[in-house]
Amino acid sequence: MLTGELALREWGNGLTERGSIWVLNGPNLNLLGEREPGIYGGDSLADIEVRCAETAKTAGFALDFRQTNHEGELVAWIQEARTGAAGLAINAGAYTHTSVAVHDALRLLDIPIVEVHLSNIFAREEFRHKSYISAAATGVVCGFGSHSYVLAISALAARMDL
Ligand code: DQA
Repeated sequence: MLTGELALREWGNGLTERGSIWVLNGPNLNLLGEREPGIYGGDSLADIEVRCAETAKTAGFALDFRQTNHEGELVAWIQEARTGAAGLAINAGAYTHTSVAVHDALRLLDIPIVEVHLSNIFAREEFRHKSYISAAATGVVCGFGSHSYVLAISALAARMDL
């Protein structure tokens, strides 16, 4: 199995014909695999990154895959995506339910955006039913575990084919 780092080296140069799909991950997602596996599954974030890189490559895109535990860093990356990304998938973790700053940053983008969640946030606690991301996103994928990310990248690629 390739490591996430190798996937970035092979596929993350941003020089492919169709540009780069960015996948941004928020707090606590660095602990996937260890964190509540009954809810989030057994795949690590590095495993997910490899699957994203494969999906992006098949569709003709490079991949930029990042994770942060800090809201300001997430906002800065979204701003950076204005010039660097052809499409954006974002799992903002708990900031999904709290961050007007992330919402406002996403509204600056003029590219397709997919909101991603491993779990079905609507089948969980009430406080997870509200998302500040959805109103700024092109679409939402949730509830398919790590496969949500693959679906999100396929959806971005299909959107860019239109
Ligand atoms: C999550 C759902 C959020 O409610 C939670 O805070 C996360 C992960 C998901 O992928 O299912 O950190 O975004």
